[in-house]
Amino acid sequence: MSVTAIKGMNDVLPGEVETWQFLEQSARDVFGLYGFSEIRTPIAEKTELFCRSIGETTDIVEKEMYTFSDKSENSLTLRPEGTAPVMRSFIQNRLYTLDPISKLYYMGPMFRYERPQKGRYRQFHQIGVEVVGVEDAKIDAQVLAMLHQYFVRIGIESVSLQINSLGCPECRPLYRKELISYLESRLNLLCAECQRRYQVNPLRVLDCKAAGCQTATVDAPSVLDHLCSPCNEHFSQVKEYLNSLKIPFVVNSRMVRGLDYYVRTTFELVTDQLGAQNAVAAGGRYDGLVESLGGPALPGIGFAIGLERLVLMKGEQRISSPSPQLFIASIGVEAAERAFVLMSQLQVAGVRVEMDYLGKSLKAQMRRANKLNAAFTLILGEEELGTGQAQLKNMSDSTQSMVDLATLVEDFVKKQV
Ligand code: HAM
Repeated sequence: MSVTAIKGMNDVLPGEVETWQFLEQSARDVFGLYGFSEIRTPIAEKTELFCRSIGETTDIVEKEMYTFSDKSENSLTLRPEGTAPVMRSFIQNRLYTLDPISKLYYMGPMFRYERPQKGRYRQFHQIGVEVVGVEDAKIDAQVLAMLHQYFVRIGIESVSLQINSLGCPECRPLYRKELISYLESRLNLLCAECQRRYQVNPLRVLDCKAAGCQTATVDAPSVLDHLCSPCNEHFSQVKEYLNSLKIPFVVNSRMVRGLDYYVRTTFELVTDQLGAQNAVAAGGRYDGLVESLGGPALPGIGFAIGLERLVLMKGEQRISSPSPQLFIASIGVEAAERAFVLMSQLQVAGVRVEMDYLGKSLKAQMRRANKLNAAFTLILGEEELGTGQAQLKNMSDSTQSMVDLATLVEDFVKKQV
């Protein structure tokens, strides 16, 4: 039996990859406009990094990490997300000494041992951004405006932005305490998982998909009613700036995130097109993270977009590879050799050319030229080699013109054909 790929880890094939390239290039273009630079970090990190940042009691750290020992018995983990590695690199390379504000973006594979389904994979790809150094709510609004602009650019409109504030270490503990006692009062209505975790991670109960948990917590205390005044002020400003930039949003006070580093602004871009996996992008503030990882006390904010989910949403609007500008068909060995050299010269000159390598009949070669959607075809036979001229056929209108083989490359480059 042949070897197959690992469950939940997918190939991206020609025909699909063009959509990926379009989505990646659009991110580079849009993020570049907003002053972001790319950062690339390794796909594996010391396990400790993720435990300390994402949080020991989160689903990711408790059950989803690809963790292994290398041959020196170091515990390593395939990155389940990009924020922690980027912050590790930011601190290690002292990027804060270069500029008081760092605007970084990244794209690449992430790994989580989740149950694979549509839109959820074990190797998936994120396009993420992080801004370190600004507490002002203007940056929250700008990051969201950039996310909005990216979706405009890639032509996906059916998404809605949900925002929330999770407070800070000043106000969240009080909210947490109140939520725990609220949950305690209806513990028997919660699912087994929530009964287990409500003490350590009470906010996650609000996010539980189980119908019982949802009904049991409809009137749960809202985090927004418990914000301290600086957090309240910050959240009001975020909303004001979003309004002044005309970025549509809804406030969802039940939105919590699956990673522990968040404070204040959190957000998700959701769609109803992907079933249960409704978040196409998500992120928020993580003001204490850099310091907790041993760096300076700098605030941060960012988001990550799930690339596979975008590709699913792009669906039928597939982007295809550019087709050949020319297909050179040939009859006979000598003509095939001439075609081969001509093709190479044209490729060096920047023209997309294809030819036959399989000794197919002229009819079969022309069928392939059609299939590849070549703009022009050129047929080389004994006669053409003799006269040094050949008929160039424009495939869209079937017009033909005689061209000199000696100047073909030049003519193509000058777009005289
Ligand atoms: P996250 O919510 O865990 O946040 O992931 C962000 C996005 O990655 C999700 O909204 C989803 O589109 C995609 N995603 C997550 N897991 C999977 C999966 N198993 N299969 C397919 N797509 C998936 C973070 O990762 C944070 N680091 C985002 C962030 C950056 N916060 C601040 N800066």
